[in-house]
Amino acid sequence: MNLRESMKSDFPSVRLRRLRKNSSIRDLVAEVKIDSSSLIMPLFVKEGLDGRESIDGMPGQERLSIKELLKEVSELLDLGVKAILLFGIPLKKDEFGSSAYDKDGVVQRAVKEVKKNFGEEVTVITDVCLCQYTSHGHCGILLEKDMQKIIENDKTIEALAKIALSHAEAGADIVAPSDMMDGRVGAIRRALEDAGYTNTAIMSYSVKYASSLYGPFRSAAYSKPAFGDRRIYQMDPRNVREALREVELDISEGADIVMVKPASWYLDIISLIKDNFNVPVAAYSVSGEYTMIKLIAEKGLIDEKQAVWEQLHSIKRAGADMIITYYAKEYAKWTRDGILS
Ligand code: PBG
Ligand code: ZN
Repeated sequence: MNLRESMKSDFPSVRLRRLRKNSSIRDLVAEVKIDSSSLIMPLFVKEGLDGRESIDGMPGQERLSIKELLKEVSELLDLGVKAILLFGIPLKKDEFGSSAYDKDGVVQRAVKEVKKNFGEEVTVITDVCLCQYTSHGHCGILLEKDMQKIIENDKTIEALAKIALSHAEAGADIVAPSDMMDGRVGAIRRALEDAGYTNTAIMSYSVKYASSLYGPFRSAAYSKPAFGDRRIYQMDPRNVREALREVELDISEGADIVMVKPASWYLDIISLIKDNFNVPVAAYSVSGEYTMIKLIAEKGLIDEKQAVWEQLHSIKRAGADMIITYYAKEYAKWTRDGILS
């Protein structure tokens, strides 16, 4: 057969289906895979709580006492999920969010207990912010200026450095500032270095968009701003290049891991950051992303497991090295039980 004839007869024949014919061959050629050890489970620990409390806006998620937190960590470890992101819910709030850096605060005590019980087996990441601790619910310290309340950036970063240091003292492996103030990574890095915590890593919420998808979290953590919104410190969803500047600054200030948040509606941003920098990239699939799937699945309109499988792989495909997801535990369980294929 000459070339002409072979082209006419469509030879060699292209059949992409050959590599899709069964699940073992699909696994073989899969370009991305998710391992439980690259998932991070966010957990809420609530001061003064006895036992567990379900969270209305996030079906399946609970606020935990420290004792229940320990049980939860043990179950996660059994499932191969080795990292948690801790959020504290304090009893007391004030104008300055001072309970956030109390060394006997709920997060500080929780971290100590987790580390005492599980040591190096688990990676403890702590959310560093003020919004659950301030009476007004903003992520910073407010200043009254010309009859208007504004966020005092530099006072706020001092407070954030104190919070991060108190978490490091309690034994946190990684501190994760989620406030989006300017210069906070540098302030935290300096505070940690000065106190000798050279091995505490910083996972910066570098690219955090002012998103509607945080709704369920705010009701879970009682952190809705009492007035205004977070658009003066969080990123505008219309911007892309600004994300590069945020990441560049955070790396220069000493961030070890950078995060993009939310994940699903910002896959382009994850992939851009991945292509332009050489630090590990985390993606946070936030409360709204979780609850959307939960509720639509409860209605019987979507297959929950397949939806989560697809969502997490899309985030991985975009370039996330690690994924923070409220589905971490369930996903690990489905994988272990062979329910996902
Ligand atoms: C607070 C914080 C928020 C989330 C994580 N840390 C909410 C916010 O900025 O209002 C959102 C997480 C989620 O929605 O799952 N700094
Ligand atoms: Zn905050």
